[in-house]
Amino acid sequence: MSITLSQYLTTAVQNNLIDSELSALISAVAQLSKDINDKVTHGALAGVLGMAGTDNVQGEHQKKLDVISNEIFVSGVEWTGSVAGMASEEMDDCLVTPSQFKRGKYLITFDPLDGSSNIDINAPIGTIFSITKAPEGEITNESFLIPGRQQVAAGYVMYSPQTILTFSFGKGVVMFTLNMNTGNYILTKENVQIPATTEEFAINMSNMRHWAAPVKEYVKDLLAGKDGPLGKNYNMRWVAAMVAEVHRVLCRGGIFMYPWDNRKPEQPGKLRLMYEANPMSFLIEQAGGAASTGKGAILDLQPEKLHQRVPVFLGAKEEVARVEEYHKKF
Ligand code: AHG
Ligand code: MN
Ligand code: MN
Ligand code: MN
Repeated sequence: MSITLSQYLTTAVQNNLIDSELSALISAVAQLSKDINDKVTHGALAGVLGMAGTDNVQGEHQKKLDVISNEIFVSGVEWTGSVAGMASEEMDDCLVTPSQFKRGKYLITFDPLDGSSNIDINAPIGTIFSITKAPEGEITNESFLIPGRQQVAAGYVMYSPQTILTFSFGKGVVMFTLNMNTGNYILTKENVQIPATTEEFAINMSNMRHWAAPVKEYVKDLLAGKDGPLGKNYNMRWVAAMVAEVHRVLCRGGIFMYPWDNRKPEQPGKLRLMYEANPMSFLIEQAGGAASTGKGAILDLQPEKLHQRVPVFLGAKEEVARVEEYHKKF
């Protein structure tokens, strides 16, 4: 018998693993992801491809789907009574739950559409979310600056040949596949585990000349293969959507990296802590892997800004430990 998302969440509430507000919130994210999925799968037919003609707070040119997905996310979550506020890649400041809706006990941060450069080429994209307990009192941008270790749940939806919802509420990682005929998310993987070692890495190699010494040295050794100091032949992948890279790592292992580089020396990395690095690190650790800035666990960082960026090295535990060694050595 297949297990639907509603069955899974209801059982989790009955077993006191999560409360009903969290269950309602995860449910709402799953529900709204079907609306994003609908736009994504219809592409040009729905008139959602191309640029929006606006920039976000980080200076990126927004795609139509970045903006549309953000609107779908906000309206899919604000009414639930589960959130006190939300923050997104595509909104300069946080959004306090409007007064006509009940204030809930959680905060949610999200990347409504991850992998924007893949939209117009029909390649994998996704939605990422992170849930924490809301502090008491007025909700401001500062309320969201909670270390990733304190997330109560995190996950992503990947829109690709299959639409897959992956999440964790701190009791392992589960995956649900959307049955597009019935509209049900069905449990298709439980207890996801990442092997501690790997022979596959992912990094945007075109930035090699811009990296810092530790990353240059490490990747040079990866490329040296069996005859190099690491003694293994490594394979490489780059999908250009973090959701797809993390999904691959969860499915068959590997290491994914987006390091600092000197194209924008003032920024510590490209990926954003609050709605990319933290939720993905939570999933990776829940699956027995590791996630590091190169100098320590991402989940232990004290966030300083809503749209803060970080270097990211995540996946196979031993490989991430090796990256940290290179950071100590070079
Ligand atoms: P977003 O589309 O949400 O802005 O995120 C883009 C990120 C991430 O998904 C991916 O890992 C990376 O950018 C790809 O970067 P390159 O274009 O440098 O390959
Ligand atoms: Mn973006
Ligand atoms: Mn993203
Ligand atoms: Mn995005």
